[in-house]
Amino acid sequence: MELGLIGYPIQHSKSPWIHQQFLKQAGLSGEYILYEIHPDQFVEEIKQLKQLSLDGFNVTVPYKQKIIPYLDEIDDHAQTIGAVNTVVCRNGKWHGYNTDGLGLVTALKVRYPHLFEGNKSALILGAGGASRGIYYALIKEKLNRVSIANRTKSKAESIMNINSQDRRGEVFTYQEAECHLASFDLIIQTTSVGMYPNNSEKIINLTHIQPDTVVSDIVYQPFWTSLLREAHQKGAQVHHGHEMLLYQGKLAFEYWTNKKINANEILPKFLTLLQSENNKG
Ligand code: ATR
Repeated sequence: MELGLIGYPIQHSKSPWIHQQFLKQAGLSGEYILYEIHPDQFVEEIKQLKQLSLDGFNVTVPYKQKIIPYLDEIDDHAQTIGAVNTVVCRNGKWHGYNTDGLGLVTALKVRYPHLFEGNKSALILGAGGASRGIYYALIKEKLNRVSIANRTKSKAESIMNINSQDRRGEVFTYQEAECHLASFDLIIQTTSVGMYPNNSEKIINLTHIQPDTVVSDIVYQPFWTSLLREAHQKGAQVHHGHEMLLYQGKLAFEYWTNKKINANEILPKFLTLLQSENNKG
């Protein structure tokens, strides 16, 4: 299999390690190469990439939207979200998908299945590209409330508007959200706030959180974000960002290979890798 990743900057990506594990588990040989593309060279480099005999590749920041005009086909889910993180190459044609939102939901279901058994509510913090994917994945689930908080309320409104017939929640500022925290079972942080090297930053205060709430942060560097530390101190359940990375990768790999992957099997090894790097840093 010839696989890879496009984005900028991507030198520290953990995706090559993840996909090597998946290749091994699936009994396939192949490689996963980092194609770091400088924004000034995007158009030329994409044309060159099309000449290569790749089986598929992932797309990360800042190209999840920019890649769309270069696709031959895009699936409905990725089209609605307006972002693509997985491209499958078949007979020279590029097909775009998005596994980010479903990746997070799949990871959460493995660890906290009760959240998806009905009558539960989720609050998404942030209204960027990652938030869109997660929102659409969540409203397909049995949740009776999915709300969004954002600095700019209109951006959160526009996410809800795309699927307004299925709207099941409110739009908040962060200040408003802080007052309503006790009414949510799941809180998902989707912005880059708190990401290395700004480890001390935190998007909201969790003063009013209930002890049985699950707090999920999609940031995985650092492993313990300030938000997750506070959640843990308040007795809440925490869900670290590396699990979403692993599960979005699993779903991408399954699109490329049509083979089923057991991501859970790789999780302990991945955790050890991240923790050893954290200790070195
Ligand atoms: P991505 O595609 O990775 O989700 P993005 O589209 O740039 O990234 O979205 C970034 C999100 O993080 C947005 O919700 C943004 O808030 P605004 O919509 O108000 O701009 C949020 N964000 C980024 N930096 C922030 C900060 N310092 N404080 C609060 N929110 C922030």
